[in-house]
Amino acid sequence: MSDLPTGVKDADAARWDAYYDATAGRPPRLTLLTALDRFDSVLPRCAVDLGCGDGRDTIALLSCGWSVIAIDAAPSAVERLAARSDLPKNAVLTTRCGKFETTEWPAVDLVNSSFALPLCPPDAFPALWDKITQSLKPDGRFAGQLYGSRDSWAGREGVTVFERENARQLFQDYEIELFDEEETDSVTPRGDAKHWHIFHVVARKR
Ligand SMILES: C[S@@+](CC[C@H](N)C(=O)[O-])C[C@H]1O[C@@H](n2cnc3c(N)ncnc32)[C@H](O)[C@@H]1O
Repeated sequence: MSDLPTGVKDADAARWDAYYDATAGRPPRLTLLTALDRFDSVLPRCAVDLGCGDGRDTIALLSCGWSVIAIDAAPSAVERLAARSDLPKNAVLTTRCGKFETTEWPAVDLVNSSFALPLCPPDAFPALWDKITQSLKPDGRFAGQLYGSRDSWAGREGVTVFERENARQLFQDYEIELFDEEETDSVTPRGDAKHWHIFHVVARKR
């Protein structure tokens, strides 16, 4: 009998474990660093990290003195994050194991979601995006990635992709600070060949 959150299969959890092993020790994402650069240094600040994995970005936020709500559907992600040896002393970290589509979080200064939002099923994406936008305080920011329509994973069950213009339209209530489109062939951290079509975005809510 599995105790995984609803909709998370054992096979998914094992797959993500291999990903966390392969990416262990990697630095925070450029989108997060870009967003952090845009905030003044006045604390307190609070972020939610959607699909936090084992904490690559969460640790960077905590190290800057931010409080973080880290959400991931894979139990091992939040377990690994809570056990990290580089977790700052006095870190204000809340972990929630669950799908970001169905998990609630309070108003925040930053919604960070690195390489995770494309894994929201298309029928659930509009409500998730509304929740993200509603949860941002005025002048709050979104940082993260969306996938484009030419990504290898386009058409896979449960994966949301966008045409460039549709991706930009998501940000009509935002001032876009970074919108980089990347298209490249390489391998995933788990060693699978992949055509990546990615939009890297940082945007400030108006
Ligand atoms: C590609 S990893 C990215 C992890 C981390 N953000 C990073 O940049 O390395 C995607 C993460 O999203 C999580 N995830 C996928 N779908 C999710 C969902 N619907 N709700 C919450 N987490 C999800 C996975 O468990 C995994 O940890």
